Amino acid sequence: MKVLGIESSCDETAAAVVENGTKILSNQVASQVAIHARYGGVVPEVASRQHLLAIVPVIKRALADAGAGWEDLGGIAVTNGPGLAGSLLVGLNAAKAIALARRLPLTGVNHLEGHIYANWLSGENPCFPLVCLTVSGGHSDLVLMRGHGDYVLLGRTRDDAAGEAFDKAARILGLGYPGGPAIEKAAQGYQATIPLPRAWIKGSHDFSFSGLKTALFRLVEAGKVENPAEAAASFQQAVVEVLVAKAIAAARKHRVKHILLAGGVAANRPLRQRLIKHSPLPVLVPKLSLCTDNAAMIAACGYFRLRAGKTDGLDLDVIPGLKIG
Ligand code: KG4
Ligand code: ZN
Repeated sequence: MKVLGIESSCDETAAAVVENGTKILSNQVASQVAIHARYGGVVPEVASRQHLLAIVPVIKRALADAGAGWEDLGGIAVTNGPGLAGSLLVGLNAAKAIALARRLPLTGVNHLEGHIYANWLSGENPCFPLVCLTVSGGHSDLVLMRGHGDYVLLGRTRDDAAGEAFDKAARILGLGYPGGPAIEKAAQGYQATIPLPRAWIKGSHDFSFSGLKTALFRLVEAGKVENPAEAAASFQQAVVEVLVAKAIAAARKHRVKHILLAGGVAANRPLRQRLIKHSPLPVLVPKLSLCTDNAAMIAACGYFRLRAGKTDGLDLDVIPGLKIG
């Protein structure tokens, strides 16, 4: 079954066609990064206007690229949360219009579940139970997944999300936006020589990154950072160490078969490498291009929802604060 996925929760307008939840037939992403970069972050009002301009061309391109017509589709999957309300509404209304006009089943997808399903698109077959570390711009969630659609939230961030911490650290160091790729690039070839704190929060699967960010800020403010690249490497190491240790601890405790990585921060190579190196279990990571926001992951998740009979009506609404588990 071919599913059309639509994603517009933040600053990417995306549409994709995926077959049986695992095979990408097309994957279109219209990024607004260049537009928001001058503000150092996403401007919600600007984002929704851009989604309006891009949504129809992006959907048309996704279908054309897949060589698919409306009659070839078995359903529509659309992100309905979490995200920016005005942005989510653009994708959701497009999806509803198509579902109504073409009499196709519609399913609303949690963006965070979507990130996890990027792992079904890399030719691997994740085995349950598994633990997934989802690290994005707005979330750091450690989730136990016992089957399709069956999530138990083990831990989450108590303050900043991992991606948010990267973005703020890059701003402090004057490295640009988005911060994650900027920090990773600047840090390349440098050692983590500056001591920075790690919030282990013993006995809990929760995360906290605001203390680390503040420590970095204080060092910069005190003129103690001579080379931003060294600070970037030290910051990255501090985040990666905690993420990897906590993901492995959760996986051991729950005796799972696989550890999965997901979300924009999963594109970070030192994070991928350290997790693979230290994990006693098989680790699956999505392809780099499928870590950041895209619609193929939404279509993949949507396929498994539709297969389980989880369809939504035209009264489906956006839920900006939607959670997982
Ligand atoms: O999943 P995503 O595309 O959007 C959200 O759902 O939030 O994640 C975006 C986040 C940003 O904070 C960005 O700085 C971070 O992912 N990110 C990275 C890397 N690429 C993107 N963080 C660290 N290293 C990277 N290579
Ligand atoms: Zn995302």
